[in-house]
Amino acid sequence: MLLISEENVEKLLTMEKAITAVEDSYRALGMGEAVLTPRENLWISPPKSIKLASGALTKSGFMGVTAYPGGYGTKGSGPFTTLLYDSGTGSLLAIVQGRFLSWLRTGATTAVATKYMARRDAHEVAIIGTGRQAITQLRALDKVMDIGHVSAFSRTPERRHKFAAQMSAELGRDVVAADDAKSCLAKADVVVTITTSRDAVVKREWLQDGVHINAIGAHYPDRTEIDGETVRGSRVIVDWREQALLEKGEILIPMKQGLVTSGIIAGELGGVVAGKLKGRTSDSEVTLFCSGGIATEEIAVAAAVFRDATTKGIGSNV
Ligand SMILES: NC(=O)c1ccc[n+]([C@@H]2O[C@H](COP(=O)([O-])OP(=O)(O)OC[C@H]3O[C@@H](n4cnc5c(N)ncnc54)[C@H](OP(=O)(O)O)[C@@H]3O)[C@@H](O)[C@H]2O)c1
Repeated sequence: MLLISEENVEKLLTMEKAITAVEDSYRALGMGEAVLTPRENLWISPPKSIKLASGALTKSGFMGVTAYPGGYGTKGSGPFTTLLYDSGTGSLLAIVQGRFLSWLRTGATTAVATKYMARRDAHEVAIIGTGRQAITQLRALDKVMDIGHVSAFSRTPERRHKFAAQMSAELGRDVVAADDAKSCLAKADVVVTITTSRDAVVKREWLQDGVHINAIGAHYPDRTEIDGETVRGSRVIVDWREQALLEKGEILIPMKQGLVTSGIIAGELGGVVAGKLKGRTSDSEVTLFCSGGIATEEIAVAAAVFRDATTKGIGSNV
């Protein structure tokens, strides 16, 4: 069994590799070659919890369990861990530390959704939330689209300006801090919401037609980053229907308000990547990808890291 530390994951994993692994995992889901369980929150004393989810990529021969504590105020630095097994023999292959892995796989998921759902001529990006995950969200988008201009907004002026300066320098793109969410979204072709907000930060009247939105930050039934009118008027694709109907406030809150039914979900990203349904049906349509993160993303990226570690002789044999 290989122990793959955080430092080793950082040596081995690139955003390109994460995007390929996540895209393949969604294709496998769409083709019926993967199975998974919804994330389970075992509440310790709210908001503290231990979160568990398992998944298997049966054709690739990997399965695993991923676990992490939530609500401990670690600012995204929680000790994420994946136990990776051989789905043919049941043997434990690796324990993979997953903080960096989780940042990249979350960005990679947004990249895959954007690749399949945004308009082909999309260049303008708006990002709401400028914390730790926002960095890897932008890095990932930069791999799948020709970014023209990025508008970034979060509550604290110093933080959004710092993010804009840092990402401009890193990506060599025009990244500018917006004064409010409305102006941030005004010209966007692609939107990412990656906040800890409880309430909607995106409103339909602030968006232009044809925009693609990735709602990534929230995964609790009573929290949403997107207002009900946007959800009602969008082509909604989720990461996985079963989990989305348990925990994605973007779907559950407007359902509770009577604005939409579960039929608002047009399909899952796996079906889109597998070519079974379209990510968008016209250039003027608003498309919305709702994701809280699913186990097969983590297992797929952990498996890619494990394969690389084995080839390169990296990691500690235990
Ligand atoms: N979908 C997935 O697979 C997945 C994976 C990992 C994490 N997440 C989620 O992603 C979210 C962000 O994670 P993180 O590590 O980047 O958190 P973080 O570092 O704490 O950053 C949170 C960001 O949200 C902003 N924010 C909060 N409320 C806002 C509001 N009302 N309007 C505008 N901006 C607001 C904050 O702005 P200020 O700094 O200015 O206050 C900050 O920029 C978390 O909720 C996390 O659970 C999702």
